[in-house]
Amino acid sequence: MPFLHRPVLLPQVVDSLQIRPGRRYLDGTLGGGGHAEAVLAAGGRVVGIDRDPSALAAATTRLAGTDEFTAIRGRFADMAQLVGHLAPFDGILLDLGVSSPQLDTPQRGFSLQHDGPVDMRMDPDQPLDASSMLDEMDEAELVDILRRYGEEPRARRIARAILAGRPWHSTAALATCVAKASGYRNSRTHPATRTFQAIRMAVNGELDQLATGLEAALSMLNVGGRLAIISFHSLEDRMVKRRFFEAAGRGTPRDAYGHPVTPPIGRLIVPRGFAGSAHDADNPRARSARLRVLEYCGPPPRDTALYTAAGDAGQELS
Ligand SMILES: C[S@@+](CC[C@H](N)C(=O)[O-])C[C@H]1O[C@@H](n2cnc3c(N)ncnc32)[C@H](O)[C@@H]1O
Repeated sequence: MPFLHRPVLLPQVVDSLQIRPGRRYLDGTLGGGGHAEAVLAAGGRVVGIDRDPSALAAATTRLAGTDEFTAIRGRFADMAQLVGHLAPFDGILLDLGVSSPQLDTPQRGFSLQHDGPVDMRMDPDQPLDASSMLDEMDEAELVDILRRYGEEPRARRIARAILAGRPWHSTAALATCVAKASGYRNSRTHPATRTFQAIRMAVNGELDQLATGLEAALSMLNVGGRLAIISFHSLEDRMVKRRFFEAAGRGTPRDAYGHPVTPPIGRLIVPRGFAGSAHDADNPRARSARLRVLEYCGPPPRDTALYTAAGDAGQELS
């Protein structure tokens, strides 16, 4: 099956990263390689990381034929271990969440539209999938996940219904159970959207990945290099915004002379970020996208010899 994923905010990403020929860029969420292809076309050298082997295979096929591209399997939170020996980078991109092929392949278990196993792992070799996670949970744990990652106001009644009905053999059964229990009528999105998002984020540890990945990326940028992050919902965007504002010295405590107590290490590029188009009929994912960009201003990156070589936490493919 072809890997069909349209990269969101592509011109804004290319502009913001200020790609220069021969410079080195890290794409921590390679997916089908759409953003990476544009960086290569602008003359950059690209190292791409993804935890999903089918994404890596698609990107490697798409970008075969250039020596300027390297693909590595792993999680971007581990980027220091995976590619620290190649740092510093002149730009780092994280395009968060799942790709269209992951969402649209019923066997991957992310989809509300198509029936499949309740799997939801981005990395199919990860031991814990969504059905085993649900099977091991009690009500308090599930409520916490639905509230924390889904911001679901009816978390308790949904959690109770899921644990009573045990519908984790099929995504269709899970979606129906949640729709019935939630009692939402006439909502614009499917009543189980927030529940599916919350379970997916818990199974893949997505907010932990982002928190660790943000710090790792900041430690691996060249002075003047840029970190661009595309998020698709408020939880991720809030985390990125807070860290970028803090890095830029916004809202940090000031001393008696009005200087930030901790000196800024970055500069915000377009403080409100770039919003995806609400009218992109061909690419509905773009509607909820927001790109934020920070330029790293120093101090100079740490001695990269401190990082371990690739292979400790990932597998180099090309
Ligand atoms: C939205 S897609 C990226 C699409 C890509 N920018 C393109 O143009 O094709 C997100 C990709 O990031 C991967 N991913 C998500 N979280 C990850 C993580 N923590 N570590 C590594 N890869 C991750 C997913 O497997 C998926 O392939």
